[in-house]
Amino acid sequence: MKILVGKNYDRVSEMTANIIATKVKEKPDAVLGLATGGTPKGVYKRLIAMYNDKKIDFSKVKTFNLDEYYGLSSNHPQSYAYYMKTNFFDYINIKEENAHIPDGLAQDIDEECHRYEQAIKDCGGIDLQLLGIGHNGHIGFNEPDDALHTSTHLVNLHEKTISANSRFFGKDEEVPRQAITMGIGSIFGADEIVLIASGEDKAEIIAKMINGQLSSKLPASMLQIHKSLTIIIDEPIQKHLY
Ligand code: F6R
Repeated sequence: MKILVGKNYDRVSEMTANIIATKVKEKPDAVLGLATGGTPKGVYKRLIAMYNDKKIDFSKVKTFNLDEYYGLSSNHPQSYAYYMKTNFFDYINIKEENAHIPDGLAQDIDEECHRYEQAIKDCGGIDLQLLGIGHNGHIGFNEPDDALHTSTHLVNLHEKTISANSRFFGKDEEVPRQAITMGIGSIFGADEIVLIASGEDKAEIIAKMINGQLSSKLPASMLQIHKSLTIIIDEPIQKHLY
């Protein structure tokens, strides 16, 4: 496990975008695992700027998003498909068929989860997985639980996650209660993982994930034993770590 520290959110975003850009330069048909949420927005902005400066080409890149709300169509403004389009995909030259996100309207959930796992395998697996972390230690939507799922599955979201997400929805009742998420095994299968966090409100959970025991009650702790994990944090988090 490698820990890198950037001065602030912008620097964390820049460092992360540079890692992704280096990967795509080395391997133009790289398979990237992508996250949504507030934290990666700065990374996507940097990557778009690099694309505009002709420093990165996404024409052969394939992507797999971690998760999608169950029950939301891809053009619902709060769906993760919509987030990816409006924060990233619409501004780069990725081919639509190469950008994968679980189908939030899938009728047959088991089939959709199986299809998603198979699509990752058919692309040769994920080269680089970008992750954020929830305040309760969730990664993707793998919530703290007595046991963790290995592969893509339907999950009931925790109250804490629902209320954290409610800021994006009009009324609390509109916040989806379920999501389709890659499992811990799907995430672990990535050759390289980069987890990013910014702001002192994430300090406690980062300290626990780095120093705590491996536990399904803190899904991100499992990453401690991944063969290539880089955690990129900012100084407000670092101050609380040591
Ligand atoms: C979203 C995802 C989530 C977020 C996490 C942190 O695709 O995988 O696990 O990374 O909820 O979200 P932010 O960055 O908004 O704090």
